[in-house]
Amino acid sequence: MFYFGVDYYPEHWPEERWNEDARLMAEAGFNVVRLAEFAWSRLEPDEGTFSFEWLDRAIEVLASHGMQVVLGTPTASAPPWLMTKHPDAFLTRASGDAVTYGNRRNYSPSNEAYRDHTRRIVEAMAQRYREHPAVIGWQIDNEFGDRDYDAPAFRRWLRRRFGSLDVINERWGTAFWSHTYTDWDQIPVPLSTGGVPNPGLALDFYRFCSDAYVDYQRLQIDILRERCPGHVITHNLMGFRYPLIDYFDLAADLDLVSWDNYPRGFWNIAADVDPSALALGHATMRGLKDRPFWVMEAQAGAGGWDIVSVAPKPGEIRLWAYQAIAHGADGIVFFRWRTARHGTEQYWHGLLEHDARPGRRYDEVKAMGQEIRSIGADVAGSKVHAEVAMVLSYDARFALEIQPNNPGFSYPDQFQALYRTLHRRGVAVDVVSPSADLSAYRAVIAPALYVLGEGTAAALEGFVERGGALLVTARAGVKDEGNVVVDRPLPGLLANVCGVVVEEYDSLPAGASNPIVLADASVRGAAGSVWCDILTPHGGDVIGRYGGDHYEGRAALTVNAFGAGHALYLGTVANGALLDAVIERLLTLGGVEHGPRRDDGVEIAMRRQGDTALVFVLNHAAEARMVHIDRDRYRVIVGDHDGTSELTVPPFGVIMLSGRADDARAETT
Ligand code: GAL
Repeated sequence: MFYFGVDYYPEHWPEERWNEDARLMAEAGFNVVRLAEFAWSRLEPDEGTFSFEWLDRAIEVLASHGMQVVLGTPTASAPPWLMTKHPDAFLTRASGDAVTYGNRRNYSPSNEAYRDHTRRIVEAMAQRYREHPAVIGWQIDNEFGDRDYDAPAFRRWLRRRFGSLDVINERWGTAFWSHTYTDWDQIPVPLSTGGVPNPGLALDFYRFCSDAYVDYQRLQIDILRERCPGHVITHNLMGFRYPLIDYFDLAADLDLVSWDNYPRGFWNIAADVDPSALALGHATMRGLKDRPFWVMEAQAGAGGWDIVSVAPKPGEIRLWAYQAIAHGADGIVFFRWRTARHGTEQYWHGLLEHDARPGRRYDEVKAMGQEIRSIGADVAGSKVHAEVAMVLSYDARFALEIQPNNPGFSYPDQFQALYRTLHRRGVAVDVVSPSADLSAYRAVIAPALYVLGEGTAAALEGFVERGGALLVTARAGVKDEGNVVVDRPLPGLLANVCGVVVEEYDSLPAGASNPIVLADASVRGAAGSVWCDILTPHGGDVIGRYGGDHYEGRAALTVNAFGAGHALYLGTVANGALLDAVIERLLTLGGVEHGPRRDDGVEIAMRRQGDTALVFVLNHAAEARMVHIDRDRYRVIVGDHDGTSELTVPPFGVIMLSGRADDARAETT
């Protein structure tokens, strides 16, 4: 089943209005509503006093109009009585200051009193709704995030994980600057007042912070699984860009991954939307469980707290929703129904205006609702088939946050630039964890695998040996899992498969770049910046050399034949021309079919259901674009069409085709 719906806050509106809201929702084609994820003070107005009647009535009204319900556990925002009673439950910031009341996400996930209150409200809700016919599942909390500088909880985590101070002193190398710990209580958290921390301590602290939310989520999951075995359990994550939680760990305990997709947030009012950044968000969320996901909050209007973002252009709300579907979404839930009149999010625009008018945004989504009625069943459960994987390592990301090596060295930006290069060629990509099984892929990219364990190194080597094409980029294999620099030439455990050794490296000043002279003379304008590994091949062939500085003529890019496959090593942060050349080479080595590079804003993506290919033609440009399709093979199932092979895709428009799976991509250009 395909889920199409909206996030609704009945507690913000007079009860007399609920029926009209539900009627309009049904008219828009909605079949699901998320409720209650911030309603703790309405559900438990005083400690231990529960009030569910209003929520019962809201669910009743919605259900009478055909809606199913996902209930949020309300723990992201605690009632004032709770935080007043337990001031020690506030989260501590990196400055060492505790958060004060006034916003949300202000609690410490390790705080025992908060956890007790959590258990109580979650148990009460689970008990109340376990057999409710309209309730299909749960969203736990809301957008877990932040780092809690809770020293006692960190120490408990360390004790459980490492058992003894000797192990920790050895692991962190505390002989340096005389940091040898002789009592658990001496171990600090890396507060900003402590200066640049020990990298081993800091990486373990970041892991602890991530685990603290995984553990807190599990507390809730255990209750819900036991009491509501038939319900689906999800959490709304924040896509690729969110850096503070290891999302593979967080997703492991969930039935379903969902996420919140805001292409035009208020933090970004000047920028154009980069469709590849959105696509990467979807690919990452799909990759967490290698399953279809939901968008639990799909942007429905301009975003705004204190500042108002650029409003979505006509067509964009629908376009972004279809893009999510194209990348594997089986549920789209718009945020939010009606624009709030009160509170921090007064300017976070929903489908209805402040005064409840259903305007152009509602109409756009309602038109999409009609389409979903006809295609939803074909889409649900269909799969994205990718031949290329990108390895996302939160260990590397955390460690590079601690020591970026160069102010311009950004793990997420490099990851995104590589992804964008593939996206422009219409190449489907799975984002996978460092422990993923790689056997289904033809090509794998491991960007800046700065922290590298033996298992991952062996898996990458085995992948190449069996015939795969691997791309490794600068700062790979520098650290072991304790964040200690390895005692071997770089790229450490990947030196063998890459057939190369990093002889020396150079960290470049801001704005500086070094031209790269490629063996393929047809490529022009290739250059590296930020970081330059000066390479000595040990079996590998040089395919790119530095054109300047004291290492002019030395290797920057190599390829190594290893077993039945090949490994590319890219020793610098590549500009667009260099990325194009490297990715072309990788795809050719891996035998990955792909289209030509497209710069016109048209994205073509595919899902498969058995023998059927569902092809999504998504025009992210503000002008109409032409796309050629083979009319003998494809039917247009969404979008206007006149029966010819040249389709005109309107500005921010979508056309969806259905055809035979084997050759769908090749025939759509
Ligand atoms: C999300 C959040 C929602 C709402 C929305 C708009 O991050 O989950 O509750 O705050 O952003 O700000």
